[in-house]
Amino acid sequence: MTDAPAIKAINLVKIYQSGGVPVPAVRGIDMRVESGEFVAIMGPSGSGKSTLVHMLGGLDVRTSGEIWIDGTRADTLSESGWALLRRQKVGFVFQFFNLVANMTVADNVELPALLGGVSPRQARERREYLLGELGLTERAAAAPAQLSGGEQQRVALARALANQPRLLLADEPTGNLDSRNTKDVLRLLSDVHRKGQTIVLVTHDARVASMADRVVSLLDGQIVDDGALPRTRRRPLGTVGDVVELRG
Ligand SMILES: Nc1ncnc2c1ncn2[C@@H]1O[C@H](COP(=O)(O)OP(=O)(O)OP(=O)(O)O)[C@@H](O)[C@H]1O
Ligand SMILES: [Mg+2]
Repeated sequence: MTDAPAIKAINLVKIYQSGGVPVPAVRGIDMRVESGEFVAIMGPSGSGKSTLVHMLGGLDVRTSGEIWIDGTRADTLSESGWALLRRQKVGFVFQFFNLVANMTVADNVELPALLGGVSPRQARERREYLLGELGLTERAAAAPAQLSGGEQQRVALARALANQPRLLLADEPTGNLDSRNTKDVLRLLSDVHRKGQTIVLVTHDARVASMADRVVSLLDGQIVDDGALPRTRRRPLGTVGDVVELRG
């Protein structure tokens, strides 16, 4: 554990070039996320949410500005430097799930933990816990193509958490889910957050956002609001906290 913030972004800018025309997607964002914090990022379509979290995970190169992850300067890293940093510290759930097509669900989830150097037995136990929490135990031997969109999305979340990363970045992890599966995802997020997981999550869903400690609102590539949620608004689905406690 360190005292450094999980994320520090300084005047972060991303300008895409689209057919020679500059498209400013992120326009000078300053942001700090403390270790253990759960931050929701909201904003209309096209406001730069995916671009921001992609840059924070090193999946998109920033145009200017600085990114610090867990006390390490990250925006100047090479692609392989980012790959190593992600393997050690960052779990990522993409808007589109990017599962490995020719591996089973179980192997997709275990892979990051194995790459991260834990024993096969620990990787299996972690996978069993995550798939169990997300109602996917029965699907462990399936290939991703045999799953529904919502199931694939939950597998992607399990994979991102397999390694117990210092930081979880998630781009609309409940975007394709019905309310029952959303509830499973929220319960898992709440569980790992309670155990100290730092989470930065893009969502359109007010129920998801209301579980966060803080909501950052984007508009046209800039932060227009950044506020802690009052305690009373944090329990969207009356039962979520209770279920977590029952499961101990
Ligand atoms: N590869 C790209 N090339 C050019 N422009 C891009 C590219 N990716 C995104 N953009 C533009 O950048 C802006 C921000 O896009 P971004 O995907 O970050 O929005 P978003 O907030 O995640 O939206 P959504 O809620 O629809 O997912 C948009 O105007 C988009 O068209
Ligand atoms: Mg997006």
